[in-house]
Amino acid sequence: MTQLGVSVNAAPNVVPKEELPRVAALRVASSLCDAIHARNAASLALAGGTTPRAMHEVLATLPDVDWSRVSIYFGDERCVPPDHADSNYSMARESLLARVAIPPENVHRMLGELSDRDAAARAYAALLPPAIDVIVLGIGEDGHTASLFPGSPALAERERLVLPVIGPKPPPERLTLTPPALERGRQLLMLASGAGKAEAVARALEGALDPNATPAQLARKGTWLLDPPAASQLRGRVS
Ligand code: 6PG
Repeated sequence: MTQLGVSVNAAPNVVPKEELPRVAALRVASSLCDAIHARNAASLALAGGTTPRAMHEVLATLPDVDWSRVSIYFGDERCVPPDHADSNYSMARESLLARVAIPPENVHRMLGELSDRDAAARAYAALLPPAIDVIVLGIGEDGHTASLFPGSPALAERERLVLPVIGPKPPPERLTLTPPALERGRQLLMLASGAGKAEAVARALEGALDPNATPAQLARKGTWLLDPPAASQLRGRVS
């Protein structure tokens, strides 16, 4: 473990593109069931993006998860109202949360619509459990993860668990978990699909350690599920 909390990853898992959502959903369901078995409760932080969305749609169909025992959080959110097309919560509601028997009080969305974004970030941090069982993450072509973009001052954060940030992608105003919040995750599950991610994936897993340039390196210790195009620039072992 380095002072940034970045430790070496296990070999990434490469699965055919059409199987990625199911393999990812089975991983999530299994981790949630293990947590419920161990602690009678589970926590899951969701991500935006098309790859997580496809995973949600499968996860919603799996029979084994006792959703009454699962608390939902978010890794990041765009600063838009919760019914906005750009809202990560809106996507998660449509693709997962409205399809399973989860009590509404178990769903903790980031209040991206609040004008005081710093207060929204602080309030969200106060809701977080000491450790989230599964944090689902995506990676951008620039190497960002959650809404931690290359060069963001939020990457230097060592205390706060949630911060407001301005990103280079629209909508620019976001709330995001910080490096110390990711470090607290019991499991980080990184999902990446497509050749457009290949260079960022290779930098994240095999490049010189510099999370300021490639924030997805913060998930190096996690489980990486990739399709063959996303894994195509890796030189090391895959499984
Ligand atoms: C955003 C995107 C982004 C996305 C990744 C992976 O920042 O606005 O939502 O964070 O999650 O780029 O996206 P895909 O799963 O769609 O490839």
